[in-house]
Amino acid sequence: MKERNGITQHPAYPCWLNYKQYPKAADPCFEKYGRAVRVAEPSRVLNTAAQELCRAMESIFGLTPAVIREDDRQPYIQLCVTPGTAAAASGFCIRAVQENGQDKIVISGTDEAEVLYGVFRFLFLIGSGKTIGEIETQETTCNRLRIMEQWDNLSGEIERGYSGNSIFYEHGKITKNLERIRDYARLLSSVGINYISINNVNVFEEETKFISDVYLPEIASIASVFSDYGIRLLLSINFASPIALGGLETADPLDSGVQNWWKETADRIYAHIPDFGGFLVKADSESRPGPYTYGRDHAQGANMLADALQPHGGLVVWRCFVYNCHTDWRDRKLDRARAAYDNFVPLDGKFRDNVILQIKNGPMDFQIREPVTPLFGAMEKTNQIIEFQIAQEYTGHQIDLCFLVPLWKEALDFDTDAKGKGSFVREIVSGKLFHTQTGGVAGVSNIGDSPAWTGNPLAQANLFGFGRLARTPSLTSREIAEEWVRLTFGGEAVVVEKITDMLLRSREIYEKYTCPLGIGWFVNPGIHYGPSVDGYEYSRWGTYHYADWKGIGVDRTVATGTGYAGQYKGRNAEMYEHMETCPENLLLFFHHVPYNYVLKSGLTLLQHIYNSHFQGVEEAAELQKTWDSLRGLVDETIFEEVQRRFELQMKNAVEWRDVVNTYFFRRTGIPDEKGRHIYP
Ligand code: GCU
Repeated sequence: MKERNGITQHPAYPCWLNYKQYPKAADPCFEKYGRAVRVAEPSRVLNTAAQELCRAMESIFGLTPAVIREDDRQPYIQLCVTPGTAAAASGFCIRAVQENGQDKIVISGTDEAEVLYGVFRFLFLIGSGKTIGEIETQETTCNRLRIMEQWDNLSGEIERGYSGNSIFYEHGKITKNLERIRDYARLLSSVGINYISINNVNVFEEETKFISDVYLPEIASIASVFSDYGIRLLLSINFASPIALGGLETADPLDSGVQNWWKETADRIYAHIPDFGGFLVKADSESRPGPYTYGRDHAQGANMLADALQPHGGLVVWRCFVYNCHTDWRDRKLDRARAAYDNFVPLDGKFRDNVILQIKNGPMDFQIREPVTPLFGAMEKTNQIIEFQIAQEYTGHQIDLCFLVPLWKEALDFDTDAKGKGSFVREIVSGKLFHTQTGGVAGVSNIGDSPAWTGNPLAQANLFGFGRLARTPSLTSREIAEEWVRLTFGGEAVVVEKITDMLLRSREIYEKYTCPLGIGWFVNPGIHYGPSVDGYEYSRWGTYHYADWKGIGVDRTVATGTGYAGQYKGRNAEMYEHMETCPENLLLFFHHVPYNYVLKSGLTLLQHIYNSHFQGVEEAAELQKTWDSLRGLVDETIFEEVQRRFELQMKNAVEWRDVVNTYFFRRTGIPDEKGRHIYP
């Protein structure tokens, strides 16, 4: 490891931009073009694109390309913006052409950021071993907003962070180390991210001042680094800022003093950051202030901010994670899963054009398996984006391997039935289904200042996969996994095959040894790692499983339960309502099921729970063994770091198996059919 500007140069630090691993021999032809990069009309992001291309040509081929403006008759790579018609989608195009007997590779985009994405795609193609004959590519972007959200606090800690401390803040101050932030911007833009919010959605006292002159100059420096890469900055704001910062008596969105305060604040921010993206807001959620405090609704709250930002072209990204976190486990009719729908559906059509609702993929909170929230499909006149959690809060803390792309794809590919068959979530968030103006995908970041960015180097696959999927939801999980492995570890067949396979199996393995059939929440309270079946059972958080001696699960039917199943449209409402048609992997989310209920496999529910926990541990051990077989084929430092994580994962898996199996054995007194050991 060597140092650069205080940054530890760890072998996993370059992530998938690890040009040393890119096969330079795949096609020597590329070298012919790589000696010159032509940018006829330079601009901020095009200059970045040219620099990135030069840097890669140097690392991969040992070239030092000249950046030229004029056509000097040498073969070159040309970068150019060719705007489409107003109606055309944005995207880029890569072609090798011969014009007037002259060879060039043209990377063109509908705007300068698209050219940059085209450059990175071109490099990925080289990195994946493609030849010049295989590089012709045309890609359009499906989602206008592709947002990375940091849950970083000024203290330097990261809420739900599993990769060290923040790269943005240290010891209560904004970092001066813009180098590392620049490296992050590169990584993000290489997979097409175009917005970033740099502070936690829970905005505490000091962070409330980020929108004041105290912090704006430093925040502007960070914004400028991201602007070079075509990424616009968002800030999470405190809804009660007019009181906390402005000395007003209220933050009521209908109060003209409050409205003016926000307008002045927006003007101030744009004076510092001309391309500022807008606000991200968590309001009336988990004790954060919001419009409900003043008897107003969420449209009134969001619109007030939207009006302040609108003259500057800013957005309000308003989260729908609004629920009562002081609920009572005694009342079986209360259901947290209903909350997003109940709070927001009545407001459909009431939001300004520059408001976008940000909706978590599931109705609860980033569990290993949840249904897709019924809010998708229920609002036809509102901009909306889907929120995923890249950070592995409930999915193994980046210790356990859990490749999340299959989970996200399931959500994007869910058919809401809102306009009949084919009403997929991906078509709703892209804006296509309901012709909403803007939409996209947001993800809670999994990076920190750990040398490999994501703690466990294998968790980089989730960061990469999130970006790739956000831009191109039609990619398969396998395509994404395989591409990541090639770019990160090189193209050796056995490495590609084994790591890809490990990634693709990992989510279901994690599910097997943790929470069965969509029930969720068997975790240790607060920390959310390791098992505690009743940990949240009698708490205020509304996350119950209701296990007794006869059965387990939440009755969310319309007929006898909370009515949540009725929030879905058409065929989905029917499907979830009945035990026989409910997808079995979500059975306990929707129904209270007796332990002797026979599943389609022929196993009773109880035996299924026992089996899956034994199997989960066995399969986790297979992952560990596969990784062990890669010694000598991947970098030694990375190898050992991942190996250490697998040792911890095994301990975790065994703990889960034993705690969960014992729990149900004690409840039922029924032993495992196969006579395996369950601790009494
Ligand atoms: C989860 C998480 C919190 C976070 C919240 C949110 O509940 O545990 O740490 O603040 O989600 O999404 O706002």
